[in-house]
Amino acid sequence: MVDHPLVRSRLTDMRDARTDSASFRAALHELTTMLVYEAARLFPVEEYAIMTPVGPTEGARVANPPLLVPVLRAGLGMADAALALLPESSMGFVGLARDEETFEPRAYLESLPTDLAGKPVLVLDPMLATGGSLVHCCRLIADRGCTDIIVVCALAAPEGVARLEGSGLPLRLVTASIDEGLNDKAFIVPGLGDAGDRQFGGM
Ligand code: PRP
Repeated sequence: MVDHPLVRSRLTDMRDARTDSASFRAALHELTTMLVYEAARLFPVEEYAIMTPVGPTEGARVANPPLLVPVLRAGLGMADAALALLPESSMGFVGLARDEETFEPRAYLESLPTDLAGKPVLVLDPMLATGGSLVHCCRLIADRGCTDIIVVCALAAPEGVARLEGSGLPLRLVTASIDEGLNDKAFIVPGLGDAGDRQFGGM
């Protein structure tokens, strides 16, 4: 969990029901920058020799830039910020919509490299509720040989965290908050509503 005054402030803007779509998208963009910055602490670096104007020194770079995978729709609002911090990254896409009655994800898009062996993957989705969507997405990635998945979420429910933990998938989670729980519609409480609708309008 990332506990920082600016992280709390942007997450508060997103939670506030009075925040309009443009301000919501701006807050998610800035929050993603901070969460990906923290997630990147887990990346190995490689050192290499450079010359400054004054003389030689050792530089450093991310050894193996990850594949970024925003989960559509809501994860789209995190893609630009993550790519700006990790410009050498490549990007894949997974489209999932949660059924409003069963709460199970329905997949409508899988655009991922076929072989992810040796490739770290950063999955971007603002919300982890029941965990059905992220387990589905991370399983697609693990089935392609990935053994290093970092999930970046704005906020999570304890039920979703437990489902990810119980999945046995090779993943770590970076989030700004673990909220109280889920209501009878499987919405995170207090949460922020539906991150897709708040960014892009209702379907
Ligand atoms: C939301 C959210 C997650 C998922 C979380 O997406 O962005 O992907 O629900 O719920 P879960 O943990 O219970 O699976 P939604 O299905 O509403 O689609 P959208 O991004 O198109 O709005």
